[in-house]
Amino acid sequence: MTRIFRRVAALRCWRRSLVGDVGFVPTMGALHRGHGSLMERARRENRYVIVSIFVNPMQFGPQEDFHRYPRTWEADVQLCQSLGVDAIFAPLPAEVVPSFRVVPPPEMVQVLCGPHRPGHFEGVCTIVLQLLNIVQPDRVYLGQKDGQQVAIVARMVEEFHLPVQVVRCPTVREASGLALSSRNRYLQGEEQRVATLLYQALALAVKEFEGGERSVGNLIKSMENFLRPYPQLRLQYIECVDLETLTPLDVIMDGMTAMLAIAGYVGNTRLIDNVLLQKRRPIVAIDGPAGAGKSTVAKLVAEKLGLVYLDTGAMYRAITWSVLQAGIDLEDKSAIVELASNLNLRVTSDAQIFVNGENVTQVIRQQAVTAAVSTVAAIPEVRAILVKEQQALGKAGGVVMEGRDIGTHVFPQAEVKIFLTASVAERARRRQRDLQQRQLEVPDLAEIQKSIEERDYKDMHRPISPLRQAEDAIRIDTDGMTIEEVVDKIISLWQERL
Ligand code: PAJ
Repeated sequence: MTRIFRRVAALRCWRRSLVGDVGFVPTMGALHRGHGSLMERARRENRYVIVSIFVNPMQFGPQEDFHRYPRTWEADVQLCQSLGVDAIFAPLPAEVVPSFRVVPPPEMVQVLCGPHRPGHFEGVCTIVLQLLNIVQPDRVYLGQKDGQQVAIVARMVEEFHLPVQVVRCPTVREASGLALSSRNRYLQGEEQRVATLLYQALALAVKEFEGGERSVGNLIKSMENFLRPYPQLRLQYIECVDLETLTPLDVIMDGMTAMLAIAGYVGNTRLIDNVLLQKRRPIVAIDGPAGAGKSTVAKLVAEKLGLVYLDTGAMYRAITWSVLQAGIDLEDKSAIVELASNLNLRVTSDAQIFVNGENVTQVIRQQAVTAAVSTVAAIPEVRAILVKEQQALGKAGGVVMEGRDIGTHVFPQAEVKIFLTASVAERARRRQRDLQQRQLEVPDLAEIQKSIEERDYKDMHRPISPLRQAEDAIRIDTDGMTIEEVVDKIISLWQERL
């Protein structure tokens, strides 16, 4: 049953009773499959899903379509119900439209839709801040269809330190390529066909980009040439900007993510669309439980493919080592976060790791670090710090990354995703052999097994990005396989994929 709340106090009262993650999808109603895809994603990733339906007067200009914006309450409620949404929040304007305003940074509204819709993003930010504060979600789901909106809201969330994760969801399209939009309802007869030109022009640019064209000027020129014979589409802009900062681009260099966006009128209906242009070398993500042989395998795979090996586990170890060095109690999570936030971590392409300039590659292998690393890695703020670093390190691609959450969280877009695992007994035997070889103290097998089981439990049950196999990862169970066999298997997967 989907609950419906109109009053802030009632939603707050219900929200307080929830135990578990809350995913939030803000909308203006007139729901379609695009909204539906956000709800489905929120449904998969959270215990509770809340959808807001509110046609926000603040984000419409005086000449815009606020009064005729489609309102389809019954159907909206039905869609939410069918997708397992827990609650709809449909507030009264008097309770949520404040007299304060949130003003986005000028450089983010001087581009794309900004100049054509003065005050629009101010209205969006103000209501989104309001809704986030009322709903207090763990994750908010926004569509790439409105790419400028996602970038601006993500920046607001970052700068105001709002405790919510912004999840950018791909644009859902009709078979014709037309991006779904509540405003598509306005299109009549022939206009529907004209509307598909927006995506056709973008798709043309994608093709040229894939063919090697990197000049934004040239890409835009061929889109304009393509559209010239169709005066029924009154072009407003074609622009190419950095996906996150919205800085205009002249050239799309490797490792950048560019958003190529278009807007125009078909009849009286204003339509927008965009695509991402990105070229980077491929990424191999290897996840799996402790002791499955990830680092040995990842190093060899990187060597054979000529890629850089990035040991993300070593980054968690480096923080853990620093925590132990500083004599911080492992229970004192806030002290750990304070320390981690001030550390200067550096990983080199030859897999050396430095903390505040000191090479710690060897010392972080100590048993004391091994015993403490899951506790440190389970702290959400520590993960947030390292995920950001890892994403920066892998931005240009050409890396093999291994860890617990690379394919699920750090690089969900990795080209090759492996879930490398082995039975607990097998991992314990390997660990024992490894300790013997390194002439370290060797506990008995049962003890090693127990510590591996404990570590698995911690890794799988931590509150954020717990260890799990990504939906599209290939599972390799390494019991009875040699290292060479595992490496060969991954290399052949790479060759198949690319
Ligand atoms: P609305 O236009 O209703 O869109 C709600 C959410 O659905 C937005 O995040 C939007 O990007 C997403 N969405 C719309 N069409 C989509 C499609 N074809 N594919 C994927 N996602 C799509 O955007 C707003 O409302 C408002 O500005 C709001 C954020 C609710 C603030 O008032």
